[in-house]
Amino acid sequence: MPVLLEMKNIHKVYPNGTAANRGVDLTVHEGEIHALVGENGAGKSTLMKILFGLEAPTSGTIEYKGQPVVFNGPKDAIQKGMGMVHQHFMLSPTLTVSENIVLGDEPKKGLFSMFRDRAKEYREVEHLVATYGLKVNLRAKVETIPVGQKQRVEILKVLYRGAKLIILDEPTAVLTPQETDELFDSIQALVSEGHTIIFITHKLREVMRISNRITILRAGKSIATLQTKDTNQEEISRLMVGREVLFRVSKAPAEPKDVVLSVRGLEALDDKGAQALQGISFDIRSGEVLGFAGVEGNGQTELVEAITGLRKAVGGSILYQGKELLSASIADIRHMKIGHVPEDRQTSGASLTSTIAENLLLDHYRNPEFKRGMFLNKNKIKQYAQKMMKEYDVRAQSEETLAGALSGGNLQKVVVARELSKNPNLLIVSQPTRGVDIGAIEFIHREIIKRRDGGAAVLVVSAELSEIMSLSDRIAVLYNGEIVALLDNTDDLTEEEIGYYMLGIKKQAQEAVR
Ligand SMILES: Nc1ncnc2c1ncn2[C@@H]1O[C@H](COP(=O)(O)OP(=O)(O)OP(=O)(O)O)[C@@H](O)[C@H]1O
Ligand SMILES: [Mg+2]
Repeated sequence: MPVLLEMKNIHKVYPNGTAANRGVDLTVHEGEIHALVGENGAGKSTLMKILFGLEAPTSGTIEYKGQPVVFNGPKDAIQKGMGMVHQHFMLSPTLTVSENIVLGDEPKKGLFSMFRDRAKEYREVEHLVATYGLKVNLRAKVETIPVGQKQRVEILKVLYRGAKLIILDEPTAVLTPQETDELFDSIQALVSEGHTIIFITHKLREVMRISNRITILRAGKSIATLQTKDTNQEEISRLMVGREVLFRVSKAPAEPKDVVLSVRGLEALDDKGAQALQGISFDIRSGEVLGFAGVEGNGQTELVEAITGLRKAVGGSILYQGKELLSASIADIRHMKIGHVPEDRQTSGASLTSTIAENLLLDHYRNPEFKRGMFLNKNKIKQYAQKMMKEYDVRAQSEETLAGALSGGNLQKVVVARELSKNPNLLIVSQPTRGVDIGAIEFIHREIIKRRDGGAAVLVVSAELSEIMSLSDRIAVLYNGEIVALLDNTDDLTEEEIGYYMLGIKKQAQEAVR
């Protein structure tokens, strides 16, 4: 296959002094699916932002179709036929799907092209939808559609602008397994129509499944480029991390003690006012992990929000150490030694305009340890933040770095560090390792189990079935707002078995799930 893109010896030092790329070479062939992998902060997004003209390289060259190119902004890159779907979506929530796709590039009609040609707009977009199997509801407002569809909108947007080389930055991090399958079908359709794909992911299973070649970055440098068919997950992870990585946490059997959380007949509504939880009941004891499996959108979000006070339940009861949480305020709940790692760290997990230290300290400011008289003890805070960053391997310039400048996975580590450090009696974690690299997944899993062994009751929600299976002592399957199965996580329990419950094909008798 002919060479389409050649990035040579790329260096990037950000204004705050972080050297994100320190000599990266990347060669992409026309028509291939090229996976770009590496630990959190290895420099993947930075390299792609440089390619797409969003960041200028400090040094290095880019050749596209045999010609040297210099991009002064995304407009230049788009004009050459590149498109990028970012790690965090950039759509206008109040506009419709179709309006988002054509935004800034609307077809015009009439004398002097004064009017927007809506008919043409729909025709063109519908043609793209049909060609690539990217099913979306063109007339729906973006704020009302699920993430899987939002992502298709981002891809359609890029295609509408005529992109040939498409960069997908962690496209599957937010997708359910079903949505991932659909995305992969669309990627195959794109390739067979002559597109080239650069694909960033932390999921090595996906790398093996979809890519033709793989480039591995470590600490800002390109370490190797491999043919997918000649390698395996173990080799890739060793090259990424620089050591062997365990794919499963080893843990002792749980020793459950007193009930910490007791939920009875819990009912809650979703954002649209529809019944999201149909009266569910379960207990979690000190020293055990209860995992909630299920296809996203079956009540997981509402369950976690109801327990943490972010959503008012409409029926039932939630007893935490014997106290009713339904009548407590969010602030009360935050001071009850309940840790919560929310699913969406961008909007509710962290303050992007605050420093890492401020984010880590969020709930500790009242703690006398960090005070000197009436004032905050700056030195203590600095020491504490540095210690936490070291422990949780948060890779950043210093504790004064703004959270907004962190790579996706490092931001997640900050949130996890803050919540675990409360020494919670109840720990609620949603998608704890979304966007986190394999080395850090291993670490976060071990930390969660450590809290369990220290006597915390742990509730885990994850779209990754493998994560649920590796962390949980018991597994509840949510389907359509009901617990349809409550299973002991024994060695003979399979993903397939859980899958039947997740898809609503099987259901346990009501007595069993109580
Ligand atoms: N705007 C910025 N200003 C300063 N430093 C930055 C900025 N963006 C990223 N960095 C730093 O550059 C390094 C590389 O970040 P980058 O986002 O490229 O990593 P990544 O490989 O995409 O990681 P992840 O898998 O976590 O998304 C990190 O240390 C990050 O903190
Ligand atoms: Mg990234």
